[in-house]
Amino acid sequence: MTQSEPYRVTFVCLGNICRSPTAHVVLEARLADAGLADRVTVTSSGTGGWHTGEPMDPRTASTLRGSGYDPTRHVARTFSIDDYAESDLILVMDHSNEADVLELAPSVEEQQKVRMFREFDPEADPDDLEVPDPWFGDSDGFTQVLAMVERTCDALVEHLRQAE
Ligand code: 4NP
Repeated sequence: MTQSEPYRVTFVCLGNICRSPTAHVVLEARLADAGLADRVTVTSSGTGGWHTGEPMDPRTASTLRGSGYDPTRHVARTFSIDDYAESDLILVMDHSNEADVLELAPSVEEQQKVRMFREFDPEADPDDLEVPDPWFGDSDGFTQVLAMVERTCDALVEHLRQAE
């Protein structure tokens, strides 16, 4: 992160109403706490377009609100080829997102921007780097996603700070 322009991070999941919005809101909060809000920009999107224009899933919003985050500004959008030009780091939530995002890459070089989000999770098993999709499950899934996202974003902020 040595350039003078802000470093651009984008999160990608399937619907952009649960996992990537959680990471988006948590990373923005952590960057503000770390004094890095003007050095790193954050966006998120989904590979599927079903929820484009919608707010977060109400269960995601309520889980975030319960831990003191503001879920109200989110508007779901669909990942597109333009996100490659507009991002320095593209962090995907599962291997299906990874395959869909890589398929849209304009070049092999641009594919280097894509990483699994949980590569930064200090507690992750390297053989299991997915953030499980909580959409079909109960409220425990949303709580688990938030805990996973919070510790991963803590490590990600340190990575971004050291890269500066
Ligand atoms: P997300 O969860 O990818 O974490 O936002 C999902 C939300 C919606 C759907 C699937 C996953 N859906 O099929 O509509």
